[in-house]
Amino acid sequence: KKFVLSLILVSCGINNGFSQKFENLALTPPMGWNSNNTFDQNINEQLIKETADAFVALGLKDAGYEYVCIDDGWSTRDRDKQGNLVADPVKFPHGMKALADYVHSKGLKLGIYNCGGTHTCAGYAGSRGHEYQDALKYAEWGIDYLKYDWCNTDNLNVTEAYITMRDALYAAGRPMIFSICEWGKTQPWKWGAAVGHLWRTTGDIGPHFDDFERRPNKWNPMSVLEILDKHSQDELRRAAGPGHWNDMDMMEVGNGMSFYEDQTHFALWAILCSPLILGNDIRKMDKQTLDLITNKELIAINQDALSIQGFRVPWRSCPVDAWAKPLKFLIHS
Ligand code: GLA
Repeated sequence: KKFVLSLILVSCGINNGFSQKFENLALTPPMGWNSNNTFDQNINEQLIKETADAFVALGLKDAGYEYVCIDDGWSTRDRDKQGNLVADPVKFPHGMKALADYVHSKGLKLGIYNCGGTHTCAGYAGSRGHEYQDALKYAEWGIDYLKYDWCNTDNLNVTEAYITMRDALYAAGRPMIFSICEWGKTQPWKWGAAVGHLWRTTGDIGPHFDDFERRPNKWNPMSVLEILDKHSQDELRRAAGPGHWNDMDMMEVGNGMSFYEDQTHFALWAILCSPLILGNDIRKMDKQTLDLITNKELIAINQDALSIQGFRVPWRSCPVDAWAKPLKFLIHS
């Protein structure tokens, strides 16, 4: 009896009327930019503002890119006396609210980052034990997107920790995309749809197309093809849909691979319904990179309303890979 009861409680906990994620967000895969791949912790207010300016000036906004996301390294190492998160006063002298106002004035949205653990992966103040307080702070600042990472979590239960943060965001009342980032450790494609809007499925991407010489080292980035292999799994593919996506990680387009590799990388992310989160310095990219990331057909494939993640065609006699993705656009034209 006890066993049956606890099962019921668990399923209620994930999705009932009182605790839920914000619905009607990310109905197509989110599109935007994130600071981590190029800038690591070397981020500041000016970079974020210039990136928002570039979204507009270069036509990224018109192409559908919307979220300007700050990754690790934005806060101080410690909280203030009241336990609040504090934006690093040197990197962000005018604070997060002013930055969010600026980004919003461009018709864009602002994303931020934290961890379920005591500290973030780079050692800044983490959210553990402060989830509701942090959610209120993000809402007060006008944040629209939270990437929630998994470093320094000891033995925390993954699903419960993400549910706690989901509920905290919901209670704070400001609709925010909730991006789950536990690197696929606990198969988030099985539980993530009720908790967040996207979930990472692997470890971190690096600017490498194929298996590569840099392994093993302390930071063990994955190549585009390694991530692709993970996404060939049917089990994952079926979990994607409006409001809940497999996140193949922030892109490395424009970060040093050959242009053919960049093209393939971008096209695969599009076919596989991955969020299209740029990871290059968009203020300085060349024309062919800009043309690639604003390619209307590729973006239309990614954003197609049928929302079916693409799959590898079982075409054994052919030495090349073929991928297919059903499209509403084609069915209705
Ligand atoms: C983890 C995440 C990355 C990035 C870094 C920042 O490795 O998976 O995407 O956010 O932390 O420190």
